[in-house]
Amino acid sequence: MKPDFVIRNAASILLGQAEALLPQLLEGERVVLVTDSEIDRLYPALCNSYPKIVIGRGEGEKSLATVEQIHRMLIELGADRKSFLLGVGGGIVTDVAGFAASTYMRGIDFGFCSTTLLGQVDASVGGKNGVNVGGYKNMAGTFNQPRFVVCDPAMLETLPDREFRAGLAEVVKAAVIGDADLFAHLEQRSFEELRVDRQLMREVVRAAIAVKAAIVERDEREAGDRRLLNLGHTLAHAIEKCSAAMNHGEAVAVGLKLVTDMAVRIGYLAQGDGERILALLERLGFCLEAPVPMADLLAEVGKDKKSAGDLIHLIVPRAISSCEVMTLPKEEMKQLFGN
Ligand SMILES: NC(=O)c1ccc[n+]([C@@H]2O[C@H](COP(=O)([O-])OP(=O)(O)OC[C@H]3O[C@@H](n4cnc5c(N)ncnc54)[C@H](O)[C@@H]3O)[C@@H](O)[C@H]2O)c1
Ligand SMILES: [Zn+2]
Repeated sequence: MKPDFVIRNAASILLGQAEALLPQLLEGERVVLVTDSEIDRLYPALCNSYPKIVIGRGEGEKSLATVEQIHRMLIELGADRKSFLLGVGGGIVTDVAGFAASTYMRGIDFGFCSTTLLGQVDASVGGKNGVNVGGYKNMAGTFNQPRFVVCDPAMLETLPDREFRAGLAEVVKAAVIGDADLFAHLEQRSFEELRVDRQLMREVVRAAIAVKAAIVERDEREAGDRRLLNLGHTLAHAIEKCSAAMNHGEAVAVGLKLVTDMAVRIGYLAQGDGERILALLERLGFCLEAPVPMADLLAEVGKDKKSAGDLIHLIVPRAISSCEVMTLPKEEMKQLFGN
């Protein structure tokens, strides 16, 4: 079995049918499965293949309390350092499971079956695992690669439209960062086509993962290039802080729109490219209106843990499939965005 991608430190990413791939990958392992209540309900055969730990749903579950609950269950199940933790779910499950595995008995092996589009193209790729602490996102975590990530395009079919679309925002982001062909491909498809065409989604997921995997290879610990993956995210994080109306992907779409407009305004991005980015986001059904005034978003920027002191690393598109990191004082960011 040949993995589709291999990331340094041994993470293999495989695209294919989960129920066929997982038993092969886990042969001879003492597996404990971690999933959430929805995946457990939708995929009982898969989830009942191993002793399982079922967690709740939502960002609130991504906590140290859930990690402790998993550790206690692992002890109860008699898991030792040779046990293997399999996380089956979206980004919440894989972030929590990866962190729980990395810290149980100083670290046991783990792997993922990623079941959301956002998880497949983003959360499960790159070896970052973490949980939220005191309302702040990803404040406790590790850099630790899973042994494998299985991405099954068929599992995306049970996702609600809203979750599917949220994942598409990260796909568009990946295309703008580094894949003009993927971008052009998406321009020719409708949201409805993407929803139902398994083969098409397999290729879309493959291309989006390739963008992230290549960047992670160059910069696993986010000293440089990995920052490119934050395209659209500086303002998206501020949107998520200021308003509960949008989920992460929806906020990323607005963040992409705002940074695209700005890049065109300052002459970094050709107007035609800017128009293409906005048109694609609109075609995919995103609302591109920020839910709160720009001034509020800019006030929020900088409280972000990712900003180093008074400087901010803003990712700016220069063309479709080329972006650059602009490091500037927060005050200048306000001027750039016209406030
Ligand atoms: N570690 C990283 O590098 C990284 C990167 C990006 C995002 N993340 C994290 O990922 C999290 C978000 O992940 P997400 O968007 O996958 O959310 P999620 O895990 O909450 O999944 C979204 C919802 O879809 C349900 N679901 C999952 N798979 C399904 C399926 N196949 N069919 C039907 N329903 C399904 C889940 O039960 C959940 O209610 C955030 O906490 C974010 O911080 C981490
Ligand atoms: Zn994101």
